[in-house]
Amino acid sequence: MLRLGIFISGQGRNLKAIYNAIKSGCLDAQINLVISSSENAQGYKWAKENGLNAIVLKRSNFTSRDEFVKAMLELLSKSRVDLIVLAGYIKKVPEEVVKIYRFRIINIHPALLPYFGGKGFYGMNVHRAVLQSKAKYSGVSIHFVDENYDKGQIIIQIPVPIITEDTPESLADRVSNIEHQLYQKIISLFTADNLFSNLTK
Ligand code: GRF
Repeated sequence: MLRLGIFISGQGRNLKAIYNAIKSGCLDAQINLVISSSENAQGYKWAKENGLNAIVLKRSNFTSRDEFVKAMLELLSKSRVDLIVLAGYIKKVPEEVVKIYRFRIINIHPALLPYFGGKGFYGMNVHRAVLQSKAKYSGVSIHFVDENYDKGQIIIQIPVPIITEDTPESLADRVSNIEHQLYQKIISLFTADNLFSNLTK
């Protein structure tokens, strides 16, 4: 069964959607590890309450960057993680980790990349910027993670039309709704007949 390592920093609604998809039998996977960049993340508290192997891993708890990276790699290996799923993780994944898990790390972004992506574009900042730009569409992007923020190969994008009355909140709601349906479907492409296995050989 596909073993997931899910990285979070915030509310963890994508984590919950993936968890529910597994519980209801829609996704053949298991969550072996949750890494949170903060002990204050709501998603971290929820993961603990729901019996997941959730761990806070942050650079400031380590004396050096190398120790931090080593701890991350050890956790991933000990939990036998096949696929790293970034679900609202706002930190950069260390390049040592990207190198080992290349094409086995994915991220979800609440806009149509390459627009409205990169450093600083997270949470409501993204939706505010999209509305200010007068774009006709926002959307959801799921992509492989490489060494640069929001720059890896795109796997899928689903447009979400913007309506005149939209506020950042209303747009965020519609985008989230698509995210929660879409992420589990894309994760399922990595299960049994892993569609991407040719990339990792
Ligand atoms: C989502 O909009 C996701 O696209 C972005 O961060 C947000 C995370 O939300 N990367 P949540 O923590 O899953 O609720």
